[in-house]
Amino acid sequence: MANIKFFTGENVPLEMHKVRIVQKLNLPTVEERKEAIEKAGFNTFLLQNKDVFMDMLTDSGVNAMSDRQQASMFIADDSYAGSATFTRLEDKVREIFGMKYFLPAHQGRACENILAEVFVKPGNVIPMNFHFTTPKAHITRLGGRVEELVIDEGLKITSDHPFKGNFDTDKLRKLIVEEGADNIPFIRIEAGTNLIGGQPFSLENAREVCAIAKEFCIPTVLDASLLQDNLYFIKTREESCKNMSIKEITEELSSLMDIIYFSARKLGFGRGGGICIRSTENFMKMRELIPLFEGFLTYGGMSVREMEAIVVGLDETMDMDIISQGPIFIKYMSDELQKHGIPVVTPAGGLGCHINAADFVPHIPQTQYPAGALAAALYIAGGIRGMERGTLSEQRNPDGTEQLSSMELVRLALPRRVFTLSQVKYAVDRIVWLYKNRDLIEGLRFVDEPETLRFFIGQLEPVSDWTKKLTKKFREDFGDSL
Ligand code: F0G
Repeated sequence: MANIKFFTGENVPLEMHKVRIVQKLNLPTVEERKEAIEKAGFNTFLLQNKDVFMDMLTDSGVNAMSDRQQASMFIADDSYAGSATFTRLEDKVREIFGMKYFLPAHQGRACENILAEVFVKPGNVIPMNFHFTTPKAHITRLGGRVEELVIDEGLKITSDHPFKGNFDTDKLRKLIVEEGADNIPFIRIEAGTNLIGGQPFSLENAREVCAIAKEFCIPTVLDASLLQDNLYFIKTREESCKNMSIKEITEELSSLMDIIYFSARKLGFGRGGGICIRSTENFMKMRELIPLFEGFLTYGGMSVREMEAIVVGLDETMDMDIISQGPIFIKYMSDELQKHGIPVVTPAGGLGCHINAADFVPHIPQTQYPAGALAAALYIAGGIRGMERGTLSEQRNPDGTEQLSSMELVRLALPRRVFTLSQVKYAVDRIVWLYKNRDLIEGLRFVDEPETLRFFIGQLEPVSDWTKKLTKKFREDFGDSL
């Protein structure tokens, strides 16, 4: 494979960077971990970072910055209006995505808020390959409805389909005909489809989707938050793109879109976000909401230091050596887990390694949040903080019943350039132990359940004293070790 480096023979991923700033970690004892997760209401979002050994919650805002990014932050031009830093960011975004206008926002969901405010009216339908929590929440908040049109293969946990994030274009056409193009304000195309395991779409599929959109005069919106992994997969898995550079792939993909927005907490190894817009008309519609919700047009809620880091980070996103690191580590971890029979999403995607909780703990009913219970158990087993991506991350139906998720996943994110291989091996080791003792894990129930995005701040309790038994077993098996 061109330009992707492995140690030959063993398929061990090789970092194309060296680590020059380190942060000391703390590994609490298993008893301390049990106490910490109890205090956190069995919600890994509510753990204190000091109690976490491997923070695999997310890749959002926790990717390691490069020396060049850190250096760029010293030249930030601190001004409320007309900052030279913003001009540099605007120029870089134009260079990479080729769109005339750029509006800054403090993070991805802020872009989604602006887009929803401008485009979504009650009764509208927004087709997408798959939903993500925050755009869905903004769309439904304004009376819109989300339609997921990912190919059937995308919902299969194990598959060898290289592009499980692809749209089913027949379904897309059918939906447009049924709903009427006038009722569809835009089609949202998510790169590195988050909730089905960081799965990419192909450039070919993007071409087809955008051609249909054009035929019906429906604007296309690319959520580019996880674009860097998607670009890696297009380059390595799509035969016709093997000889294209990452920049060329990005250029062609962007040329198909009307609007591109991104969370720079993921894309560009930074913190922040923004919306790239092709038409003056759309720009004018969105422009005035930025000072209202985000900040003046030349910072949009970001600090100038963050913006400088994104300028460099976006450049690094065009470098295959740099963007390979995440996917090759994720593949390594997924392969190692599979060797022990542990159910994971295949093929390995971007963002993180995804464990299939439905098969790991099949004895736990979906209404008792198997993926949430597994995430809590994994923290007890290793101080590893993952994230529930299943029924707990859904919102209840208007009649109060549970919206059962099509997948019950525990996502173990690999923030880019952060973990060493030995840490990944440690995580594998603890997951293997937990798998052997999976019968001890039982379900959770809510004690405090917010209505919106409940997974962030909701609190739960175990349905029995299973965490006590799990902690005891750990002590028996590991003796005095942590
Ligand atoms: N789109 C995608 C595909 C995302 O993964 C996220 C965030 C957003 C939009 C929203 O961006 O967080 O900057 O407001 N995903 C995070 C995660 C939260 O952990 O997967 P944001």
